[in-house]
Amino acid sequence: MTREPFELEWLGGRSERAFRALRPGIDAFPWGTLDPSRYPPVLVDRARLSWTEAAWNEYCTAAAFTSLLRALLEARAPIDLTGMASDFVVDEMLHVELTSRIAMELGGGAPYRVDFEKLTLPSTPGLTPLQRANEEVIRTCCVAEAFSVPMLATCMKSALHPLTKAVLTQIVKDEAPHGQFGWTYLEWAANHMDAAERERLAGVALDMLRMYAPFWAKLTSRTVDGVTTEGFSIQHVNELGWAEAATYARTARQTVRDDILAPLAALDIRPDPEAVDALLALGELH
Ligand SMILES: [Fe+2]
Ligand SMILES: [Fe+2]
Repeated sequence: MTREPFELEWLGGRSERAFRALRPGIDAFPWGTLDPSRYPPVLVDRARLSWTEAAWNEYCTAAAFTSLLRALLEARAPIDLTGMASDFVVDEMLHVELTSRIAMELGGGAPYRVDFEKLTLPSTPGLTPLQRANEEVIRTCCVAEAFSVPMLATCMKSALHPLTKAVLTQIVKDEAPHGQFGWTYLEWAANHMDAAERERLAGVALDMLRMYAPFWAKLTSRTVDGVTTEGFSIQHVNELGWAEAATYARTARQTVRDDILAPLAALDIRPDPEAVDALLALGELH
């Protein structure tokens, strides 16, 4: 495993103009208005880390969608369905830009080392093309994106600075169709699935939920790396783009039940209820 600093370039010129033409309006955001000297330096450091980590997550999601697209093509998914997902990579690259720029406004990306050759989870060996597409859709759309939309919306609602508000509003607007795609895909794929495949996918969903448990188990906000906003002014925390930690954890549990498990159950994909209950009880305050 080779970990390198998470640093990316911006080319400018023709590529910038083409990118802006695909997603206009970004230059009108109130860039240059987030003043780090307003906040305690420790909180600024945590915010830099949190936004850098967000940029890395967006980057990995761009990779997850490229891998999903290939799986859809190999599975001979309907043309319009694959076409719908093709545009998502542009959204994710825009989110990489927006989140990185917030980190830059706060003094630069935090030192953060990553493995660029491990952007996505490896796919399970021995699957048919359709099973592979099912697995990628469950992981990326029905769990990861379905989870992140309400969580980002929570941060967006509480964001108290015009720049963090503008960035989170843009991201939430773009993310909604990414989650929705999963359910649209599964309505089509359900016709080609037997009981064994549904059971396998329930296991895939449960494995993904295990990866997300730190979001509610650790009572931290916007991050799984132990960054806490506890003890700081809630005004500052909200300006920098975090939601209050307890609200965040509560929303996370509710999202898993309402936006992931319920629609999966409607398709007869049911992760083991005991395992799910144990997972959701992690970190719960009694
Ligand atoms: Fe995104
Ligand atoms: Fe997304």
